[in-house]
Amino acid sequence: MSSSTSTLPYAFKRHWMSSMRLNLNHFWMTRLMGHLLHPKVEVDDASTLQVADLGAGTGIWASELAAELPVSAVIHAFDVSDEQFPPEAWRAPNAHFSVVDCFKPFPDEYREKFDVVNIRFWLCIVNDDCAESLLANVLTLLKPGGYIQWFESLPLSARVVARNNGQITPGCDTLVNQWRKPAGHSSYEWVMNLASLFRKQNMEVIADETLSNPDQYQPIASQSWLVGIEEYLYQQKEGGQLEQLQKQLMEEAQGGAFVDVKYTLVLGRKSSVPIM
Ligand SMILES: C[S@@+](CC[C@H](N)C(=O)[O-])C[C@H]1O[C@@H](n2cnc3c(N)ncnc32)[C@H](O)[C@@H]1O
Repeated sequence: MSSSTSTLPYAFKRHWMSSMRLNLNHFWMTRLMGHLLHPKVEVDDASTLQVADLGAGTGIWASELAAELPVSAVIHAFDVSDEQFPPEAWRAPNAHFSVVDCFKPFPDEYREKFDVVNIRFWLCIVNDDCAESLLANVLTLLKPGGYIQWFESLPLSARVVARNNGQITPGCDTLVNQWRKPAGHSSYEWVMNLASLFRKQNMEVIADETLSNPDQYQPIASQSWLVGIEEYLYQQKEGGQLEQLQKQLMEEAQGGAFVDVKYTLVLGRKSSVPIM
């Protein structure tokens, strides 16, 4: 067999690329934020903390928090698919991984069980018409006085940042347009107003922060995008326009042009008294 002939199905390769990108994004975002759990989360006793990570993906956030907290604290990682979960033998003893659809009512055993719920990178899953009901469902997981920490990219902040002597940037321009309107059915109002969404559910907003990439992270963002497009190519097995976009983005990055987005981090607290 020629060394250039691949017998591995596309699905495997896409899976590795996706996990690697999510893990890279985790370390990058954690560095940007400076914490796993927001410092304004008041923890009386870390040894009894119960945390849920929704749409956990590779479980890297949950696994890191499990390693940071006392072993008696419990982290539940929920995802609609177990495809990217770490192998069982390598899971932290206090990290539990379960297949759960977070748009459906949660099993009774999880109701009002958690002190903190973490949500990150749900932009592709949530639309304006379901954001409110999703948040209401998530609130059922929280103990009174519990926290939701929600982190997302801000699509309408997408812009080209270029130090390229005024060269044109058609690839970056295309990517910015995709950020701003990747799907016809979502205006992304929900994510641009995440704190308002919390307040609508009678939550106290403890922190409402916008984060920006420093210059040295711009190449990372570009690499992450190139891999993201590659995953899509593997999934679709289609070349053409997407490969052309990859090529443009790569060349423009080498020339000093990137697509930058900002991020929103909202920390909200459920009322400590039951709402009558
Ligand atoms: C972009 S990934 C983010 C992963 C992780 N939160 C992170 O920050 O690395 C989105 C994840 O949400 C999961 N997901 C999609 N729909 C879901 C649902 N209805 N319930 C739970 N998880 C869901 C996907 O399977 C995927 O793992």
